[in-house]
Amino acid sequence: MYLKGKVALVTGGSRGIGRAIALRLAEKGADVMINFFTNRTKAQETVEEIRKKGVRVESVRGNVGNPEHIQKIFNTVREKFGQLDIFISNAATGVLKPILDIDLKDWQRTLDINARTLLLGAQEAVKLMEGRGGRIISLTSMGSTRWVPKYGVVGVSKAAIETLTRYLAVELAPKKIIVNAVSAGIVDTDSLRAFPDRDLMLERTKSHTPMGRIGVPEDIAKIVVLLCSEDASWICGQTIIADGGYSLLA
Ligand SMILES: NC(=O)c1ccc[n+]([C@@H]2O[C@H](COP(=O)([O-])OP(=O)(O)OC[C@H]3O[C@@H](n4cnc5c(N)ncnc54)[C@H](OP(=O)(O)O)[C@@H]3O)[C@@H](O)[C@H]2O)c1
Repeated sequence: MYLKGKVALVTGGSRGIGRAIALRLAEKGADVMINFFTNRTKAQETVEEIRKKGVRVESVRGNVGNPEHIQKIFNTVREKFGQLDIFISNAATGVLKPILDIDLKDWQRTLDINARTLLLGAQEAVKLMEGRGGRIISLTSMGSTRWVPKYGVVGVSKAAIETLTRYLAVELAPKKIIVNAVSAGIVDTDSLRAFPDRDLMLERTKSHTPMGRIGVPEDIAKIVVLLCSEDASWICGQTIIADGGYSLLA
């Protein structure tokens, strides 16, 4: 229960990896605010699961691609909990197209939702963490450094997250706010349904993963929550790869 007394906000905390992170944070004693955007039923189900862990939990609807909604999300954290210790920037979306088909709208939407959220979210989080310290952790992927079919604009947004992580880490360290990112290998969540070659991708990933299986959301949640612990307090500005060794062979 090393997170007892802490308050965490998880964007996109209703489903997939974000849900697993929110549950794990609660298992370690943190009170949790989950953000969702379109699926209120899923969010409510996750709230109920978190509540069973014996912590305080709230949910807030908001599109992280909209700066006013980001403001509202943080205002709600302030109203409901009065503090923030952990900000997990997890929600993401993506336009899956070859790079030459990316138009201005695709670029703007993907960069805004995936990368700008870390910038605006961190600026809001600092106001609530000032004087008490905290953790900011983002989710990224290996598409930031490698070519993945139709992943170009999402890969660019993830590269922006990783670079922003390093800048935030240096500039927020004097405030005792530690910033890192976790780069997940393939994890079988709803987001993979958008990939036309999902089954092939899963098969190939499994056969190229030294650990011999596909990642599950809990694999990633464990690393993220470990980064929130005191034991991880000397890790600053890093992108930690959690992929069962896939990137060693791919
Ligand atoms: N799955 C993978 O293989 C993988 C690999 C590497 C990195 N990642 C990263 O891990 C993170 C989570 O991925 P996932 O696979 O768990 O995704 P997911 O299952 O598709 O879940 C996405 C979550 O984000 C929320 N969301 C989506 N757009 C939003 C918006 N504009 N504003 C607020 N919330 C929004 C969704 O809420 P609603 O349902 O309410 O809309 C949902 O809770 C992402 O950053 C992703 O890039 C995933």
